[in-house]
Amino acid sequence: MKETIYHGFPTSLALLTDLHNADPTPVLSSLRAHSPSLICVVGDILHGRQPEGDVSPLETQKNVLPFLSSCASIAPTFVSLGNHEWMLDSADLETVANTGVTVLDNRWVEKDGLILGGLTSGHVTDYRRFKAGTDGTVRYPQRQSPPGIRVTVTPSEHKPDISWLAEYSAQRGFHILMTHHPEYWPMIRDQQIDLAISGHAHGGQIRLLNHGLWSPGQGWWPKYTKGVYEGRMIVSAGLTNTTWVPRIGNSTELVYVE
Ligand SMILES: [Fe+2]
Repeated sequence: MKETIYHGFPTSLALLTDLHNADPTPVLSSLRAHSPSLICVVGDILHGRQPEGDVSPLETQKNVLPFLSSCASIAPTFVSLGNHEWMLDSADLETVANTGVTVLDNRWVEKDGLILGGLTSGHVTDYRRFKAGTDGTVRYPQRQSPPGIRVTVTPSEHKPDISWLAEYSAQRGFHILMTHHPEYWPMIRDQQIDLAISGHAHGGQIRLLNHGLWSPGQGWWPKYTKGVYEGRMIVSAGLTNTTWVPRIGNSTELVYVE
């Protein structure tokens, strides 16, 4: 795992994304060494595409809660929801919050002049809509076509709820928006966002001439995979590899913004 440091922002934060229930030990050692002012976990803490029966994924994915508790013991930690977090129901989100982190599920908080927002993945928004139409007897009802990343190539298939961003933009302060999906950028860039932080693209999995090859939600030759865009969106290549496709020219990455 490579540590990437970007300078020139009025706070120091760690951008963690796409842990996918991997062993967090190297991440936690790095965090303890750097001691950032804030830790931002920008989605896809969970792995897999569906919970096992009615058992919470927080019980079967053993690294998730200890990872979040450890983050919260190092610095104030904020969590936004990625596509894999569709598996977390309201009781699960309460359990997540009980680790000491602040869950930003389509909302913002003010902290020391920072306006910190979390834009929830459109996969989560879609799944909640589907679930509201079920009879409520199954804890994690399954769709015929699960809202996994495999089937999604364009962002329009899973639209996030951006209705709250106008009010977020109107707040006074330095606006940091945690958005798991970098491909949402064209639909949110007109808002007052001083720094957007993102992941999901896994660096494009294979990088050729410093350009990613493929990413979910963007397809081939994706535009937003790793680095700084328009001076105000930072995309991390993510903490782990989760597919059988090897990462080539594309190290896993923990990003610090200072
Ligand atoms: Fe993702």
